[in-house]
Amino acid sequence: MEKQKLWGGRFTGATDPVMEKFNASIHYDKRMWREDVQGSKAYVKAIQKVGLVTEDECKLILSGLEKVADEWECGKFEIKETDEDIHTANERRLKELIGITASKLHTGRSRNDQVSTDMRLWMKNALPELGAEVQNFMSVIITRAKQEIDVLMPGYTHLQRAQPIRWSHWLLSYGWMLKRDIERMLGLQTRVSSLTLGSGALAGNPFPIDRKSLATDLGFMEVSGNSLDAVSDRDFVAEFLFWASMLGTHLSRWAEDLILYSSKEFGFVTLADAYSTGSSLMPQKKNADSLELIRGKAGRMFGHCSGFMMTLKGVPSTYNKDLQEDKEAMFDVYDTLLGVIKVATGVLSTLKIYGDKMRQALSPEMLATDIAYYLVRKGIPFREAHGLSGMCVALAEKKQCPLSSLSLEDFKSVSEEFTDDILSIWNYEMSVDQYNVYGGTGKESVTAQIENLQSWLEQLQYR
Ligand code: ARG
Repeated sequence: MEKQKLWGGRFTGATDPVMEKFNASIHYDKRMWREDVQGSKAYVKAIQKVGLVTEDECKLILSGLEKVADEWECGKFEIKETDEDIHTANERRLKELIGITASKLHTGRSRNDQVSTDMRLWMKNALPELGAEVQNFMSVIITRAKQEIDVLMPGYTHLQRAQPIRWSHWLLSYGWMLKRDIERMLGLQTRVSSLTLGSGALAGNPFPIDRKSLATDLGFMEVSGNSLDAVSDRDFVAEFLFWASMLGTHLSRWAEDLILYSSKEFGFVTLADAYSTGSSLMPQKKNADSLELIRGKAGRMFGHCSGFMMTLKGVPSTYNKDLQEDKEAMFDVYDTLLGVIKVATGVLSTLKIYGDKMRQALSPEMLATDIAYYLVRKGIPFREAHGLSGMCVALAEKKQCPLSSLSLEDFKSVSEEFTDDILSIWNYEMSVDQYNVYGGTGKESVTAQIENLQSWLEQLQYR
């Protein structure tokens, strides 16, 4: 039985079945069957050009690989017990289909450069798919931000009411985070786009294959420069896991905000039934499970990221089997993130908002800073103005009345600088619109943000 294995030549004893199972990655790396076939097709053409296989042999191998792919495509590929991973499985099947010529395919190649190539091909396709989903989510943010630009709400720091802001400003704040996420992804995309095939097991390829044209054939932008590095470089996996964790963290914070805003205590929003669930015990309950899961999944993704970093840190030079741990992390994070973004998009596009409740949550003391700015505009240094405004707040507290009920006399008792125009500062719209310097919550600034984010989104292109 050991003779059936790709590496069986030197072995006499059988593999312990427990070890066999422990060692196998076929159950998850079969997901890369397409990339594995694609890499093999390009490779056989490369070795044909240097005479390692004849033109006829090349054609035979290519047509055999196509049959292998067809079997995977229509679910007919049968995984055998001896198939350790996708690479051994495909080659075993190729040999069954076309005979001994199949044994020439692996000339100069190792599963070490093969697996790295497969994974890079896989990720090169996966990233734009995720990117497109992020773009969808951002479009929903932008659409809502435009439509709901006049809705005001309390802005919070330390979860305490701070200053009035536009609801759109809150929405867009997550848009900018996601823009950075897409930018990070584009950076990763260039690093993924490096051909490692042609590195052999570790020392390189002893035959004069043309790696540049192999790279072009497989759609890679460059060729890796050092075979020792190439076979064990999993930076792209670690980066991907971090990238997803960061994006997951942004969406987790977004979810946390909305969980709070959807509680009765806030009452700013309600989730569509499609994204909520009930309680098996309490009939009145409507829970934001979608958002809680989004928040929870961020932990799962970062778990994979930190776990894989731990795996990497002790790996000595070149390929070691520890690296096989890369795939489950990569696939699980991809699946998790895809679900997270899709659900987030669903939640946001069906969310109902209550502008009146948001407005009711605005209270006059949130304009205490405006009193200070009022005095600043009259020439008083900000620190002093801040103190005087604080005295107004204290006075209102002492009188047990809202800040906005203080009379002109009350204000004048704090500072002679106050004149009757102080009584017209109790206007939230006016307050918000003083923040019109770009980046602020004023209407002009928010409109400019929307335009900028939208045109950035429209020009976005993936490599
Ligand atoms: N299944 C292996 C992996 O995923 C492929 C590479 C195996 N290489 C080796 N020398 N055993 O990492």
